[in-house]
Amino acid sequence: MKILITGGAGYIGSHLVKQLLNTNHNITILDNLSTGNIETLNTIKQIRDFDFIELDLKEFKKVDKFLADNNFDMIFHFSASILVSESVKNPLKYYMNNTVNTTNLINCAIKNGVNKFVFSSTATLYGDVKNIPKDGLHEKLPTNPINPYGMSKLMSEQILQDTASAHSNFKFVIFRYFNVAGADINYIDGKLSPRIGQVVQNATHLIKVASEVALGIRDKMAIFGEDYDTLDGSGVRDYIHVDDLASAHIRAIDYLDDINNKSDIFNIGYGKGFSVREVIESMKRVTKVDFRVNIEGRRDGDPATLIADNSKIKEMMGWMPKYDDLDLICESAYKWEEGII
Ligand code: UD1
Repeated sequence: MKILITGGAGYIGSHLVKQLLNTNHNITILDNLSTGNIETLNTIKQIRDFDFIELDLKEFKKVDKFLADNNFDMIFHFSASILVSESVKNPLKYYMNNTVNTTNLINCAIKNGVNKFVFSSTATLYGDVKNIPKDGLHEKLPTNPINPYGMSKLMSEQILQDTASAHSNFKFVIFRYFNVAGADINYIDGKLSPRIGQVVQNATHLIKVASEVALGIRDKMAIFGEDYDTLDGSGVRDYIHVDDLASAHIRAIDYLDDINNKSDIFNIGYGKGFSVREVIESMKRVTKVDFRVNIEGRRDGDPATLIADNSKIKEMMGWMPKYDDLDLICESAYKWEEGII
């Protein structure tokens, strides 16, 4: 199959590309390299060569021509702005980069006969759910995004749904990601040695921040809020290893190829929550570093708990996690960080 991956130089996209390069599919990456990383592309090129075009999705005419010139069968659309707090300060950036560019890409796909589309969405869409069901958040729950980032993704989901209703050949898979973390599970001489991972300045993600503190890149970190209605008062999230997330996308290829399957939305997480304190304990355990942690007030827009009900993706795609071990997630994040300083 001929597959286009937007944002393939980014954190999650590159982990999918790494897995795709071990299949027979023909791979093309489209990325503007604003947050994507050229070194990541050079690293995964060692697995196998692929096509790369440096292009911004806002260049509508060029994107259209590029799709017209290539007969893609399928698009994985990762390119997006992803910071919740930035989206509150600069909503138009999020509606432009996420909703407008996605609309244009879908339009180009329809015009050029690309009928399979996989979209990266987010658990942020569920908002601050007060009574989390025992089995976690199910796809059928109402969406209620509490920030422009979530809204920009929800609007894109709606545009995909309406497009699929109007164009019977067009099918999509929407993945709602929970908290993606960790780095490439790769062993050299029995030692965990990630080749790719998250590259970002001024990181805000908990596991990335904790890795940086353990390595001494930062001198301390904070727990944002200890008065949540959770077991230990700190926020609870469902952390999923990026390689398990990527493997769900591989499953989406067969899912969309099967004429019996319909367009659908899938949560992707492990169905298990860990508190901020538990994550910090895990990072301290695997690194054997006892770093400084302060307690601060809640961060704006943070819900108390986000845990996936993942029964749908397991049942309908046969997806099974391989790395659902918080210590392994933390260790791989740390080893990656250690390798790039
Ligand atoms: C993350 C992503 C969001 C995605 C969502 C899906 C960002 C910044 N966040 O949100 O795009 O849609 O997952 O669920 O891109 N925390 C601390 N101290 C820190 C950092 C974080 O206590 O230094 C806490 C937070 O308050 C939260 C938890 O750790 O309770 C996780 O935070 P973070 O890793 O930033 O992810 P989310 O905000 O859940």
